[in-house]
Amino acid sequence: MDLKLKKIKFILKFILTVLVVTWILPVMYLNIKHPEIEWDWNNIDAEDIHFPQSFAWGTATAAHQVEGNNTNNNWFLWENEVDENNLPRIHNGEKSSLAADHWNRYPDDIELMNQLGVNHYRFSVEWSKIEPKKGVFEYKVIEHYRNLCDSLIRNNITPVVTLHHFTHPIWFEELGAFENKENIDFFIDFSEYVFDHLQDLVPIWCTINEPAVFVAQGYFNGVFPPGKKDPVLAATVFENLLNAHTRVYWHLKELPGGDKAKIGLVKNIFQFDPLRKWHILDWIFSGVLNDVYTHSAIEFLQTGSSTFYLPGMVKKDFHNDNAVGSIDFIGLNYYSRMHVKSQLDLSDPFVFKKREQDIQTDMDYAIYPEGFYKALHTISTLDKPIYVTENGVADQGDSIRTIFISRYLYALNRALKDRLDIRGYFYWSLMDNFEWAEGYKMKFGLYKVDFETQKRILRESSKPFIKMVTKRGADERGYIVSIGDSAPDFTMEYLSGKKVSLSDLKGKVVVLQFTASWCSVCRDEMPHLEKDVWQKFKDKGVVLIGVDRDEPKETVIQFQKDMGTTYPLALDPGSEIFGLFADKNSGVTRNVVIDQNGKIVFLTRLFEKEEYLKMLSVIESLL
Ligand code: BGC
Repeated sequence: MDLKLKKIKFILKFILTVLVVTWILPVMYLNIKHPEIEWDWNNIDAEDIHFPQSFAWGTATAAHQVEGNNTNNNWFLWENEVDENNLPRIHNGEKSSLAADHWNRYPDDIELMNQLGVNHYRFSVEWSKIEPKKGVFEYKVIEHYRNLCDSLIRNNITPVVTLHHFTHPIWFEELGAFENKENIDFFIDFSEYVFDHLQDLVPIWCTINEPAVFVAQGYFNGVFPPGKKDPVLAATVFENLLNAHTRVYWHLKELPGGDKAKIGLVKNIFQFDPLRKWHILDWIFSGVLNDVYTHSAIEFLQTGSSTFYLPGMVKKDFHNDNAVGSIDFIGLNYYSRMHVKSQLDLSDPFVFKKREQDIQTDMDYAIYPEGFYKALHTISTLDKPIYVTENGVADQGDSIRTIFISRYLYALNRALKDRLDIRGYFYWSLMDNFEWAEGYKMKFGLYKVDFETQKRILRESSKPFIKMVTKRGADERGYIVSIGDSAPDFTMEYLSGKKVSLSDLKGKVVVLQFTASWCSVCRDEMPHLEKDVWQKFKDKGVVLIGVDRDEPKETVIQFQKDMGTTYPLALDPGSEIFGLFADKNSGVTRNVVIDQNGKIVFLTRLFEKEEYLKMLSVIESLL
């Protein structure tokens, strides 16, 4: 071979190696590590879900978006400004003005909540009304919020308060707001005042709503006040907001009522996914965005250390020892995701792209319930109870809200079945409101608001939400599942130590008897189950398992000896398995019959002859 050819071969080999190492292998790895989740909605019955009785259902709003007459905050300034091209800051030059007049109409709005059947309401208190001048607190205003809380409680609705939801007084803005860490003291004083006056009525507190959104929109994209586009300042504000959260948390915990209050931070997760799964640069840019937008805050809460990193723009490491342990719960706001496409343009290296197959919302992002499921898993790494503090859709035409609600609730339910500790779900929003830079164009409300007359009308497309909320909880026998539902999957440990998942038993008829050694009616029933089900059908494709409710293994071993039964008993520490089928406060004995396809076909409660005989005939009919 002549030298020239050898050289070419060498160069080609070199290029190939570089390609494999820097592109093909990493892309393969990333695809395995972050697989795209897309469910086959044609084969999913999104209605076939149940939530535990204790699950909190609510709606959410924020002061500036609904109250009206907020003329003393950063957003008031913003709404009345024009940009460098003399154009208004808000879509169509709209202003929040009277908004939904929630300040005056809250009693009627509570009635709307009652009609939905919800039992929680997340709202924010308006700092600029409570403390219109530095150090001057308006008792009348905090009294208003006390009245709101009182009315909610009288209606069996638990108030959930957010201290900072994007707005603060003009005097605070003029001091530089969260650009200066010294200003955090003012936020602490305000939070203390509110907490002192409301803590006896409010059990759940959100310190700051979505630090990453506040920073991205106000200091990077420049579409929220103060309209800056300064990555270095964005990093500082981000650090200050997280430290402000941490300080408020520990400060409130020290105040009377602090020990019993649940205090958390509200985190928005919006995923960035590569548009082209084979393109390393799409992956790299997505990764950078996910890190700065989502993982930085999570890491901060987990370890106390974090980095705000935008390559070529800013890299800021920060640390706060007090961050660890500074949440009693985490609030998750989830809407959608973005697809990232890299391009050969150094001044604009990536763009966001829509995909044709996606259903778009009016906010110009897609419906992506699988992303909600993913976000719940991501946030669960904090190992704290989760409240979904916001989730909703802008849908003026009323054409996709139904799908949105049923699919996102399905995703939520699926995460619950994975045993994530999700305590509640607050729909955004109770009614149409002022959608920040988008003005009144975006219709997020379960109730449509006619802003001329302030009339509220329930949207037809909101009905799946009401259906799920009113279906909540247990039936009169304590069941949270119904006949026809797919049985939730779980893994149980038999006394022998063997572990079996319900899904492993597909193809068999499964009878779960929920039992306990202290339960006399269980003891009455067990010899019958042994004879009529186990001995009769065990060789004919029936599996009977006694799931012992929350007792130590030794007790259960003794229990089985006492009973002389031979069908397997499984342990259920914390009644976790029981809680998938019935309200944890309800009793045993009960039997759940599951067919060969995993569907629940019969449910019994107590040992009643007629019902018991019916169960036997149902089992027989399945064989
Ligand atoms: C904010 C809300 C907003 C909603 C819908 C969230 O990021 O907390 O104030 O209205 O998104 O865009």
